[in-house]
Amino acid sequence: MKTIPFSPPYISEEDILAVTNVLRSGWITSGSIGEEFASLLTSYNRACNTLLTNSATSALFVALMAMGIGEGDEVITTPYTFAATANVIYHTGAKVVFADLTKDSFYIDPEEIYKKITPNTKAIIPVDFSTAHDLIFDENILAQQFTPNNKFQESLGRALILSDSAHALGSRFLDSQVDMAAYSFHAVKNLTTAEGGALSFSSFQDKSLDEEFYTLLKTYILHGQDRCAREKFTLGAWEYDITVPGYKCNMPDTLAALGLSQLKRYESTILPHRRKLMSYYKELLTIDTRIIMDEPSIFDKIESSSCHLMPIRIRNYNEENRNRLIAYCLENGVHTNVHYKPLNKMTVNKYYQYQAPLPNSYAQYNNEISLPIHSGMSLEDVEYVVQVLLKGLEL
Ligand SMILES: Cc1ncc(COP(=O)(O)O)c(C=O)c1O
Repeated sequence: MKTIPFSPPYISEEDILAVTNVLRSGWITSGSIGEEFASLLTSYNRACNTLLTNSATSALFVALMAMGIGEGDEVITTPYTFAATANVIYHTGAKVVFADLTKDSFYIDPEEIYKKITPNTKAIIPVDFSTAHDLIFDENILAQQFTPNNKFQESLGRALILSDSAHALGSRFLDSQVDMAAYSFHAVKNLTTAEGGALSFSSFQDKSLDEEFYTLLKTYILHGQDRCAREKFTLGAWEYDITVPGYKCNMPDTLAALGLSQLKRYESTILPHRRKLMSYYKELLTIDTRIIMDEPSIFDKIESSSCHLMPIRIRNYNEENRNRLIAYCLENGVHTNVHYKPLNKMTVNKYYQYQAPLPNSYAQYNNEISLPIHSGMSLEDVEYVVQVLLKGLEL
């Protein structure tokens, strides 16, 4: 029997060579390779600057911290995401406020966001589910009740739009309406550093703040130190100050080398392959009326998508039928997944203390199944997955 894993990492010989070169170099923590990777990401994401971190989670977290968001503030996000998105809000001390999805969509509804805005709303974290989804925000509404607490917030003049773009490298660009985007390089992501992430941000209206903000971010990922290890080493000066109670979530060069090596072939090889797989899935599945694939951001823009997930929904299915289908696929060697069980339905919600119902999110989750899509798959593998899936639907 064929086995199709859900999303294994794809590591080339060049990737291995890039990492071993760093291992042999004598400098294995954050250094020049990370600088090169961050600089390439900045131009690729059309951003003002990029900070490398050890995960998308920490990229989101330090973005909120550096913007001065914390206790007494509120941050609006979607419940239809991995826990990281809401957990970072919780850890800043701000209140997690969920806004429901647009009906029959995987994406947060701007109208629901507007209903939840209060004078305490400091940020909105939309999630790029599978690929970038451009919400068109009415900036006047985001500014109406906004009360800035510091110069960065003042320069923005409205709630921060911080995109959780963990899935969306190659489709989320910073010349869109978002102010900052956090990307994930976790092992299952399109581009991996095993664990890793990045925060790209656009220029502030007051451009003199760009460098200051970047310096603050850099400080936050290294315990608040005013110099990184390499600066201390090259200057030959031991002395440093701790300026803020920061965290420790920088990316070492061993991992940056893997990311840099993959980024160099991301546009030429990795993305086109994912797009080919998704197009073929679409071709084979759209004719089947039992399957719902009506999300325009995912299925109408494949040529510019990051194609991170291949999410379908099964008409008239509920959790029970869906879970049975997942078990059938697994018995036949096809590993699938569900994205996502809404966070307000998880035990962790007792910490978020979110109360109001979110029916559109539940409706999306109820009959969703994510099919395998990754660099190691062939078109024949797609045919096999579809064959197993359609057989499973007959049962
Ligand atoms: C939507 C979303 N946000 C955030 C994360 C967290 O990414 P990381 O593991 O790099 O912190 C993930 C990871 O799966 C994710 O899918």
